[in-house]
Amino acid sequence: MIILGIETSCDDTGVCLYSSSGGILSNIVSSQVKLHAQWGGVYPDLAAREHTKNLIPVLDRALEEGGKNLSDIDAIAVTVAPGLIVSLVIGISAAKTLSLVTGKPLVPVHHIEAHIFAIFIEREVEFPFIALVVSGGHTELYLIKGFEQYMYLGGTLDDAAGEAYDKVARMLGLGYPGGPVIDKLAKEGKEVIKFPRPMLNDKGKNRFNFSFSGLKSAVMRELEKGKYSKEDIAASFQEAVVDVLVGKTTDAVKEFGVKNVVVAGGVSANSRLREKFTEVSLSEGYTVHFPPLYLCTDNAAMVAYTGYRRLKESGRTIGFDFEGKARLRMDRFVELLRK
Ligand code: KG4
Ligand code: ZN
Repeated sequence: MIILGIETSCDDTGVCLYSSSGGILSNIVSSQVKLHAQWGGVYPDLAAREHTKNLIPVLDRALEEGGKNLSDIDAIAVTVAPGLIVSLVIGISAAKTLSLVTGKPLVPVHHIEAHIFAIFIEREVEFPFIALVVSGGHTELYLIKGFEQYMYLGGTLDDAAGEAYDKVARMLGLGYPGGPVIDKLAKEGKEVIKFPRPMLNDKGKNRFNFSFSGLKSAVMRELEKGKYSKEDIAASFQEAVVDVLVGKTTDAVKEFGVKNVVVAGGVSANSRLREKFTEVSLSEGYTVHFPPLYLCTDNAAMVAYTGYRRLKESGRTIGFDFEGKARLRMDRFVELLRK
């Protein structure tokens, strides 16, 4: 079976051909990162315009590199939520058109779900597991009991982890996206400031929620004092973020008695996060799984694979009247598909 996957939820235009017997045949991503760098973040209208310009060339390349024609495709999978609505609708409209032309089913995929299941392209992870999704737009914890069996545990009440990285990088004058630069700079610094670990020790309803905007303001205050180097500020900030992410995920592991953790999304590329998770998981007796770097940031391979898995496991498809959603939790997305 060959699945064509389309991803346009934010600023990356991605098309992938995934074969159930041969794996990824092609995986093309056209990044707009340089364009958005001047705004220090993603500028929605510009992202949408770029998707309209790039999607067909990216599709052409994916077909060519994969050595397939449209007639070889068995289904079309597309990210339908969450994301920038102006970006999502471009991928969804293209997928609907391809489905109409080829007569093949249209399979909906949730962006967070795709980030989580990306790891399965390369290896199996035993259910149940805790999934931590950390990207520019999301910081969420889920208990994954099986495919389409998702329990939401918590999420950020304000900034996402990646967004905090991007904003702190902007304050430090490091450009966009901030995560990779701070990751690199922090290696040359030390944790000289003990920044707050927001909500880390919260009990009750907030125990799996996150908040990073206060941390960002604390960084700003330190920066204004002009006492520490950028390297040390970057290292101190990163240590606080990583402590919170690893701490809360480990609490969830203990509470639900699971043995596996999957960390996904752009921030899962962070080297200190990987190091600390590896350390803590060893001492706490669980295994942590990270997707390979090329599957961490936005791509269509994760969408094509999740679409394949949906077809295989539940067969849920959508009609041409299905609308994209800017905001939709992963557990609620599954409820919507079941209706
Ligand atoms: O998953 P992704 O490509 O797009 C969204 O769905 O948001 O994630 C992008 C985010 C950006 O905020 C970027 O700064 C962050 O991931 N990021 C990192 C690293 N690489 C990318 N954050 C920390 N350390 C990194 N090495
Ligand atoms: Zn993403």
